[in-house]
Amino acid sequence: MQSRFVCRLSLLLVLSPLTIAAQQLRLTTNGLTATANGTTLEVTALADDKLRVREWRRQAPEDASWAVLPASRTSRVTISEDARGFHTQKLIVEVGEGLSLKISDRSGHVLQEDAGPTEWRDDGFMVFKRRTENEHFFGLGDKPGPLDRTGEAFTMWNTDSFGWQESTDPIYKSIPFFLGEREGRYYGVLFDNTWRSSFDFGRANDAKYSFGSLGGPVDYYFLYGPEPRDVMADYAWLTGPAPLPPLWSFGFQQSRYTYSPESQLMDVAARLRKDKIPADALWLDIDFQKDNKPFTVDPERFPNFPQMVSQLAKNHFHLVVIADLHIADKPNVGYGPFDSGVAGDHFIKNPDGTMYVGPVWPGSSVFPDFTRQQTRQWFGTLYKDFVADGVAGFWDDMNEPAVFRYPSKTMPLDVQHRIDEPGFVTRTTSHGEAHNILGMQNSRATYDGVLALRPNERPYVMTRASYAGGQRYAVTWSGDNSSTWNHLRMTIPQLMNLGLSGFSFAGADVGGFAGSPPADLLTKWLELAAFQPIDRDHSAKGTRMHEPWVDGPEHEAMRRRYIEERYRLLPYIYTVAEETSRDGMPMMRPLFMEFPHAATDGSPLDLVAGGAEFMLGPDLLVAPNPSPEEVAPYELHLPPGSWYDYWTGKRVGVASKTQARDAEVRDALLQNQQILLKPELATVPVYVRGGVILPLQELVQNTDEAPNGPLTLRVYLPAAGEGCEGEVYSDDGHSLDYRRGEFSRRRATCSIAGDGTVTVNIAAAEGSYQSQWKRLRVEFVGTRLEPHEALVNDVTHPMTMSHSLPGVEFADDAKAVSIVLH
Ligand code: GLC
Repeated sequence: MQSRFVCRLSLLLVLSPLTIAAQQLRLTTNGLTATANGTTLEVTALADDKLRVREWRRQAPEDASWAVLPASRTSRVTISEDARGFHTQKLIVEVGEGLSLKISDRSGHVLQEDAGPTEWRDDGFMVFKRRTENEHFFGLGDKPGPLDRTGEAFTMWNTDSFGWQESTDPIYKSIPFFLGEREGRYYGVLFDNTWRSSFDFGRANDAKYSFGSLGGPVDYYFLYGPEPRDVMADYAWLTGPAPLPPLWSFGFQQSRYTYSPESQLMDVAARLRKDKIPADALWLDIDFQKDNKPFTVDPERFPNFPQMVSQLAKNHFHLVVIADLHIADKPNVGYGPFDSGVAGDHFIKNPDGTMYVGPVWPGSSVFPDFTRQQTRQWFGTLYKDFVADGVAGFWDDMNEPAVFRYPSKTMPLDVQHRIDEPGFVTRTTSHGEAHNILGMQNSRATYDGVLALRPNERPYVMTRASYAGGQRYAVTWSGDNSSTWNHLRMTIPQLMNLGLSGFSFAGADVGGFAGSPPADLLTKWLELAAFQPIDRDHSAKGTRMHEPWVDGPEHEAMRRRYIEERYRLLPYIYTVAEETSRDGMPMMRPLFMEFPHAATDGSPLDLVAGGAEFMLGPDLLVAPNPSPEEVAPYELHLPPGSWYDYWTGKRVGVASKTQARDAEVRDALLQNQQILLKPELATVPVYVRGGVILPLQELVQNTDEAPNGPLTLRVYLPAAGEGCEGEVYSDDGHSLDYRRGEFSRRRATCSIAGDGTVTVNIAAAEGSYQSQWKRLRVEFVGTRLEPHEALVNDVTHPMTMSHSLPGVEFADDAKAVSIVLH
């Protein structure tokens, strides 16, 4: 039956275009176009595992994107013709009746399949896909709620959401990208549409998922794994990876709304140093400005601003200042940003051509038209004085854009935006199209402007609102969270989903923004955040102070211990950050990212483990209490393999790396991997995979300080017969020279022979950067040997104890070196 069908179609294929049930299918060299009932479907193969799908009625919409890199949008691969469509090296694309699209892998496993024709209503539409029983969804940026988006529905509309809670939607960002898992195969979908849009992952009907919008094009990208890490790399290829932030931004950062006057900020700086709480950055919120006017400094409260910045720099503090997008509507008072903005016609307009004015922090304000390249360039010049003063980073807040007093919390939909941008038709559009990209384009203006003012230095920009691809310009945070135990817990799924959506460099206000955290909550939060990508303590006006010392010496000691550990781990943290900037792997990752096939039923392991655990990079598993306010013991699920307690070095879990595909074996393994943990205020359990080589340094008080000791490569021994590996990346920490090869990457491996002899091979450094490390220490965790000496390139060296671990230290010349322990 089937073969007769194929025969009939292949006969038809010689005729071009091909007609399938009243629809026309035309193959191109890179894809296909099909039309039926006045609707056109276009599928383009951008690469063997990446497709772009567009659909339209009447006329093809403008082919432009704020999210996708021009090079990726124009990339193409040659396809091979099939009966119902085409195939690439990795995917089969079939079009059935009613333009129904089916995408499978080359073995015929269906990855995505329409559940019916696209539904059109007015200017909007919905696309429906079949959902299999165990299909799971992740991503969509900062949306609160569980890691798994299954069973939920979401709206994309950037919204100022002070005090958002677990079920608040939408909040600040619109990142219309999700990662799907279907029978152990992962794929990604970027729905590139800036209008108010929605996603439903089986909430209305658990046999379907859907996405749609009130306007704009049906335009989405299908990115195939099969592994989740492949999808992350695909997404970075499509929208650009996040550039590597400066090293200092991975240190501890102290902020508050608000440190004012200057003396208060300087007191905080002095106390951090006096109490030996390592720290790298301080933040100034709106009250350092004159009357809340962005790009001003209040001369009364901050009379010596440039001197203050250089004084802080001398103490190795980087200063980040807020500079919101709203410009105070203050003509004729010598307020440069307003005057130059009006002169250059840079502000958003009402339909009648007058400037749109709305109330924000400074009162009546006007808003730059960031969809114009010229406006972004002008906005970028506003940073000149701050950059000259040595301000290290910039904070783009309120850029949803937030407008006070209106029920919509933003601009009216009929406000006019001008699109004047390479790659786009020059035109005017309504706020409906521009709303969700305004924050992204604001942070783009900041990034590009600061880069132009300080060429070759990495700009550090933090934005609150953004859109897909916004990771190219800014890091982010989760906005105005609350000082509650539940918000502490929610930082984990929220930061993981941000990481899966391109925003790996993200943090949550440590201690919570709204409300005052009790001492225990602040302690726990400071402990946990030490293992999250951005560690920034921030709090709202009128709440109690949040700094690490505010609850007395006992709490301070616990908090300090974790911040110190973050500084010891900086070589690892920075190595993991560099991986993000190269291949899009999030720093903070769900367990499935590292163990995609570990769960017995094939579903992501995180769902088994409850979603509270996470990996920081490939090697560290952080396992906080899933109900952080409770004192009852909780179960920890370790992924298969051998694990060590990071704090004690003791081995836990099964000593085998087996990721057995056989369900029964996996089941048994998993059951053995459960541990009961008793929550303690002073501890966040952290585990290290057996078979990794973890880079660490001696404690420093800030990232400018050279560690007083060697770079330690801590070898967590694998089971006998298995190997191990690790790497450490370094560069100057602040310039863009690393992009021209000025970095140092050291890869190391180890093996254990049958007689227990351990050999560690450290390869010669890659890259031309002369690493600051002149000495190396190779340290061993889990060895049963008690040797007094080791061979370093065949020369005997004494073993010494440090941090209660045996190791060998030697001078390093960045050349290959082998260490033998027996
Ligand atoms: C917004 C920000 C918050 C900031 C405040 C004042 O609420 O989300 O972080 O402190 O504005 O600028």
